[in-house]
Amino acid sequence: MRAIEIRAFGLDNLVLAERPDPRPGDLRMGQVLVRMRAASLNYRDLLTVQGKYNPKLKLPLIPCSDGVGEVVELGEGVTRVRVGDRVCPIFAQQWLAGEPTREKARVTLGGPLDGTLAELMAVDQEALVKVPDHLTDEEAASLPCAAVTAWNALTAAGLKAGDTVLVQGTGGVSLFALQFAKALGARVIATSSSDQKLARVREMGAAETINYRETPNWGARAKELTGGVGVDLVVEVGGAGTLDQSLRAVRFGGAISLIGNLAGIDAQVRLTLIFMQNIRVLGIFVGHRESFEAMNRAIAVHQLHPVVDRVFPLEEARSAFELMEAGGHFGKICLALSASR
Ligand SMILES: NC(=O)c1ccc[n+]([C@@H]2O[C@H](COP(=O)([O-])OP(=O)(O)OC[C@H]3O[C@@H](n4cnc5c(N)ncnc54)[C@H](OP(=O)(O)O)[C@@H]3O)[C@@H](O)[C@H]2O)c1
Repeated sequence: MRAIEIRAFGLDNLVLAERPDPRPGDLRMGQVLVRMRAASLNYRDLLTVQGKYNPKLKLPLIPCSDGVGEVVELGEGVTRVRVGDRVCPIFAQQWLAGEPTREKARVTLGGPLDGTLAELMAVDQEALVKVPDHLTDEEAASLPCAAVTAWNALTAAGLKAGDTVLVQGTGGVSLFALQFAKALGARVIATSSSDQKLARVREMGAAETINYRETPNWGARAKELTGGVGVDLVVEVGGAGTLDQSLRAVRFGGAISLIGNLAGIDAQVRLTLIFMQNIRVLGIFVGHRESFEAMNRAIAVHQLHPVVDRVFPLEEARSAFELMEAGGHFGKICLALSASR
């Protein structure tokens, strides 16, 4: 089978490799062979390729956590899926429900486990989720990390219809957060560095938009847009560079779901803004299989379509990572792995 390998850190060292096909006889008890059809990139995958996510990762490694494929063979004792089912492998392969543990949080695709940029994957049946029928392969391939994270950022914070949510930028997680917040009946304020992208998020249903380049004090602007009250929830993907503004945007007693560090990792925070306003800061680490399944039900009911920016063939994986590095995308960057629908 063909697969992309990180042979050494750096985009220059991504190689289209030939690996032996996993054969049906190789499947362990409970494992399933999946012919992958599409994959998608997350910011984490870029950091992994660059050696910034975990410089101690063992190489060669097949990158990327997210993808979708078709079940083509069943190992002994498999009952959860059938041949022909369209499935996504879950991000943290052993985290099925409940609280995560350090051990469960470590067993993730795209590092340290080989990931989805491969034509075939052998996956434990418990670590698979069936995907909604109305999605294309690229749309379904966008779900496992970005969408599940966005879903949990909203649901863990207890978002209710009528609440106001602020989403930062127009990357994968943020556009899912926008779509889910709308589906759950919330009002969305979206930020972006680009007026063109802001026009697109308004088309997607954002009630208000702020260009965070032109309005560096966007936290105060967001508060103004809620009549001086503040937003109920911020979906925080910027991290160090945005947290202070998020704390200025959020209402007394509101919440911040802390997800990413696109704008830096070491933050200086005025703690009084948190405890004197009774703010809940929730650390979000993707999510478990059960939350993925709950999210899929919502996606099916609302007939939501993930926003796919561009689809590259597998051999152009490097260009896909370069597009992500340049931040030129709107939503998800995908790779086609075999004939997709
Ligand atoms: N905790 C978890 O489990 C988890 C899961 C998934 C992702 N993450 C993290 O979440 C973050 C987002 O991931 P992603 O895959 O959605 O990334 P992505 O698709 O690469 O998002 C990139 C976009 O983020 C926006 N952005 C960059 N800097 C910004 C800033 N200072 N303020 C506001 N927006 C900014 C830009 O939007 P505009 O071009 O519109 O300005 C940019 O295009 C990353 O840090 C990632 O590692 C964490």
